[in-house]
Amino acid sequence: MRIDKTFPTLLLCILSFNLQCSYAGEELKNEPILPIPLKIVLNPQKVALGEKLFHDPLLSHNNKMACAQCHQLNNGGDDGLKTSITNNGKPDLINAPTVFNSIFNFRQTWRGAFKTLELQAEGDLKNPRHAATNWQELLPKLKSKAHYKTDFNAIYPEGINRESVLDAIATYEKSLITPNSRFDQYLRGNNNALTADEKEGYTHFKRYGCIACHQGVNVGGNVFQKLGLFDNYFEHRGKITKADYGLYNVTKDEKDRHVFRVPSLRNVAVTGPYLHDGTFKDLQDVIEVMAKFQLGIRIKEKHVLKIKKFLQTLTGEYKGKPLNKDNK
Ligand code: HEC
Ligand code: HEC
Repeated sequence: MRIDKTFPTLLLCILSFNLQCSYAGEELKNEPILPIPLKIVLNPQKVALGEKLFHDPLLSHNNKMACAQCHQLNNGGDDGLKTSITNNGKPDLINAPTVFNSIFNFRQTWRGAFKTLELQAEGDLKNPRHAATNWQELLPKLKSKAHYKTDFNAIYPEGINRESVLDAIATYEKSLITPNSRFDQYLRGNNNALTADEKEGYTHFKRYGCIACHQGVNVGGNVFQKLGLFDNYFEHRGKITKADYGLYNVTKDEKDRHVFRVPSLRNVAVTGPYLHDGTFKDLQDVIEVMAKFQLGIRIKEKHVLKIKKFLQTLTGEYKGKPLNKDNK
C-alpha cells in the first residue's frame, strides 16, 4: 500500500513528525508505527559546528561539563545512570533521556517543558545542575576562540550570538537519528527482518494497548499521559520528589500532576535505566509496571518476554552502525 493513499498513516506522520514527511514513494506496511526516515537533509557545516559545541566543556560555567558527558553517543545517547552526575558531583533530580531521535518528539524533557530543541539546549545551558552558564558568560568565551569565530562567521552573517549557537546545536541534534532498525526494515516490507517471536511481541504490544500511547515515528514522544492511570505509581514507589510532578511543574495545573510526555521507545534496549526516575534496569520490569499502572492489567510472563523481544528490534543505526549498550 502506498503511503500517500493511506490517510491514518499520513495523519500519524504529520502528528508525530515536525520535519517534512519524506516517505513519498516508499512502500510501507500500514501500521501505527512509522519508520525513521533514512536521511534528513541538513546543512553539513551547521551539523559539524554543532557537533563541536556539543562535545566542548567550554560551554559550561566550570569549563568541565560538555553536553556529551550525559548524552554519550556511543552509549545510547544517554549516560546509563539512574540519574546523571551534576556539576557539583551530586546525583541529578531526574534520569537523562537519550538525545537520539529527539527531533521526532513533540516536546523535550520528561515533563515536556520545551517545544523546540533550541529552547531545550538553552535550558540545559542555564540549568544550575548542568552547564550552569548564561549568555553574558558564554558568548565572550566562544568569541575568544579563533576557530569558533571562523566557523560561525562562515555560516551565520551575525556571527556568534544566542540564536546562532542554539541553531548550530539544534541542527546537530537533528542529525542524531537512528534509522534502519530491524523493526523499520520490517515496516519497509522485509518480512524476514523479524523472528516469529518478535512479530508476536509486536502483536501483543498492539493487542494489550501499549500502542495507544507509544506510536508514530518515535514509538512515543507525541502525547502527554499521566504515570499511574490505574494505580498510584508514586505511592507504591515512595519518596515523592518535585521531579515526579511532571507537567504540573510547567503549568501549575492540578490535572497535570504526574503527567509526562510519553517517551520514545526507539533504542529502548540500550537506554536504561528506565522511567523518569531511573528506577528500573530491566525492560521486563518496566513492561510489567506499564501493564499494571497504565493499562490496569496483568500480562502473562511469556507475553511480557515477547514484548521485550519486540522492543529490542527498535534499536537503530547511527552512522551505519547499530547503537551499542556498552554501559549496561
Ligand atoms: C549533567 C547532565 C547533563 C548535561 C551536561 C546535559 N544534559 Fe541534556 N538532559 C539531561 C537530563 C537529566 C535531561 C532531562 C531533564 C528533564 O526531563 O527535566 C536532559 C534532557 C535533554 C534533552 C531532551 C531529550 C528528551 O527526550 O526530552 C535534550 C535534547 C538534551 N538534554 C540536550 C542537551 C544539550 C544540547 C546539552 C548541552 C548544552 C545537554 N543536554 C547537557 C542531562 C544533561
Ligand atoms: C496510557 C499511556 C501509556 C500506555 C498505555 C503505556 N505506556 Fe509506556 N509509558 C508511558 C509514560 C507516560 C511513560 C513515562 C513514565 C515516566 O517515566 O514518568 C512510559 C514509559 C515506558 C517505558 C520506559 C521508557 C524509558 O525510556 O524509560 C517503556 C519501556 C514503556 N513505557 C513500554 C510500554 C509497554 C510495553 C506498554 C504496554 C504494556 C506501555 N508502555 C503502555 C505511557 C504509556
